[in-house]
Amino acid sequence: MEIKVIAGDITRTKADAIIVNLFEGTKKLDGDIASIDKALDGAISRLIRQGEIKGKLKELTLVHSLGKLPSGRVVVAGLGKKKELSPDRIRQAVAVTCRLLRQKNVEVIATTPQGAGVAGITLGDSARAITEGAVLGLYSFRQHITKEPEHGEIKRLSIVSAGKTELPLLEQGCRQGLILAEAANLARDMVNEPANYETPSHMAETAARTAQSHGLELSVLEREQMQKLGMGALLGVAQGSQQPPKFIILNYRGGDSSELDLVLVGKGITFDSGGISIKPSEGMGEMKGDMAGGAAVIAAMGAIAQLKPKINVTALIPAAENLLSGNALKPGDVLTAMNGKTIEIISTDAEGRLTLADALSYAKKLGAKRIVDVATLTGACRVALGDICTGAFANNQALVDKVIASGTEAGERIWQMPMYDEYKEQNKSDIADIKNAGGRYGGAITAAQFLAEFTGDTPWVHLDIAGTNLTDKEQGYLVKGATGVPVRTLVNLVLSLATP
Ligand code: BES
Ligand code: MN
Ligand code: ZN
Repeated sequence: MEIKVIAGDITRTKADAIIVNLFEGTKKLDGDIASIDKALDGAISRLIRQGEIKGKLKELTLVHSLGKLPSGRVVVAGLGKKKELSPDRIRQAVAVTCRLLRQKNVEVIATTPQGAGVAGITLGDSARAITEGAVLGLYSFRQHITKEPEHGEIKRLSIVSAGKTELPLLEQGCRQGLILAEAANLARDMVNEPANYETPSHMAETAARTAQSHGLELSVLEREQMQKLGMGALLGVAQGSQQPPKFIILNYRGGDSSELDLVLVGKGITFDSGGISIKPSEGMGEMKGDMAGGAAVIAAMGAIAQLKPKINVTALIPAAENLLSGNALKPGDVLTAMNGKTIEIISTDAEGRLTLADALSYAKKLGAKRIVDVATLTGACRVALGDICTGAFANNQALVDKVIASGTEAGERIWQMPMYDEYKEQNKSDIADIKNAGGRYGGAITAAQFLAEFTGDTPWVHLDIAGTNLTDKEQGYLVKGATGVPVRTLVNLVLSLATP
């Protein structure tokens, strides 16, 4: 799909469909929708009077123009209450509109800059939200489906602005939106990809392609190098699989100083069987997505490289497969992490925190000023917050506040969880420095407390996306399967850290 910004009059634009908006509770039509209503001999105002059109968020009404307008169809898209409008609501409305029109085999769409000038939304914000909504909402994963889809494809979306002077602002918003949405879709692709394709090596190849396309520095540590560095925890997880582990490193250097402003760490378990502490078979296939944190971090780095903020960011993805074999890690084993701490294995299914222990130690060794890790870490976080909010855990309130604000901007909700010292008790081991599972209660928090042992006092935020990584239904710009959370949050965070 091509997205363009053009100057013109939406009522005179020739497209298969044009989109106009209605706010809930609007008494009198004005502006573009009023001119279109007039051209349609009052068809829209009649439907409003009759109660068919209310302007509720995501409400869609398709009106055929029957030759009265250059465009064959008009979609009246509800945006909800005017004072509640946000970029996220625009994304949602655009996504459902685009999916409806795709189903109708529409190819060319035109829209006004939806919501611009309302509730503090600028032209740039509007163009960005429209682009994100369209690109995210039309996403589908058909990699392994040989049959042609039943619907067509939307070929072009034009954002029509009344004046020429607005074009640069709209274009900038459009470009940003496209970079962000395509990054989220890359993460979705990686998560949706089956684990027999999406191996640690395949993740490293995707990282290499991202680095190549957008100019990032890449290095991939192999098993021998990990051994030299003493990454015993990550190697312990990887030892039961035929797939070699990969420690993926991506560098973006946009800052003036040599300081490493931020290290992003992403869990990269390409399949989590649970290992010897094997998971129940029901739903185990979902664990192909246990590399969603790593996927998000790789995709975010690609977007950052394109947006070029003045900041230095490194991404670390410890990638491995958690399987069973005669070589596999066993409950009761003791591993030594890169920072020298010993870990008693209670459950081989608590593997994510083991791989992150070495990645966090590595981030510390690099001299990271701040660390944000992203992981599908615990079923407990999913139980606590469902698929609505990502859980945030931190040792630094200022940083977590920034992360949460970046999430709000992206429409990716994040809820902060407590980190009281008392939770650490549950991770105490009788035979090693710490154990890798602290029991059923407060499982998301004890997992975060385990990670905290490896970050020391470096400002750090841990995002548990076990609940938000997947959705089982279409909702707004999310489609069934991987959500691409929290790619856009991470990019927003980097942009905000670069412009204090
Ligand atoms: N990858 C899982 C967590 C998970 C569960 C992600 C459901 C997405 C959906 C993680 O490796 C895991 O198995 N965690 C265990 C930890 C326990 C053994 C302490 C869990 O949550 O049950
Ligand atoms: Mn596990
Ligand atoms: Zn896992």
